[in-house]
Amino acid sequence: MSKTITVNGTPHEVDLPEDMPLLWVLRDALNMTGTKFGCGVSACGACTVHVNGEAVRSCQTTLGDVEGDIVTIEGLGSPDSLHRLQQAWIDHQVAQCGYCQSGQIMQAAALLAETPNPTDDEIDEAMSGNLCRCGTYPRIRAAIHAAAKGS
Ligand code: FES
Ligand code: FES
Repeated sequence: MSKTITVNGTPHEVDLPEDMPLLWVLRDALNMTGTKFGCGVSACGACTVHVNGEAVRSCQTTLGDVEGDIVTIEGLGSPDSLHRLQQAWIDHQVAQCGYCQSGQIMQAAALLAETPNPTDDEIDEAMSGNLCRCGTYPRIRAAIHAAAKGS
């Protein structure tokens, strides 16, 4: 199918199968490789992007189904400045291998958009579908608190 999708504010016309997961549209067709493939079955969160501000699993969202503005990790901050979560991630040295972290940050950004100052429990609940094999959860939580406080 031929379709125009808007990613990080830029329209892209793609001609790809309707059932192609958005994850592969982003990575293979648009060369935006910040969004990662972990499980392919909506069980890990590595592929998380925003569609109309909501965190969605791009491995389980098809090109045919996606409607609205898509934001990936490449478009979360502005060209000249990091998003406050990205800065907090650096300040708290959150990443270990880093593989899960773009999905973690996108999920956290959706959380802060809805809950500007989340409690530990709210963070744990919102982030529970984002797995990290390196066990960076305590630093993820600390960085979300820091970003929420603007420090
Ligand atoms: S790759 Fe999409 S949730 Fe794991
Ligand atoms: S930092 Fe390695 S999987 Fe999360």
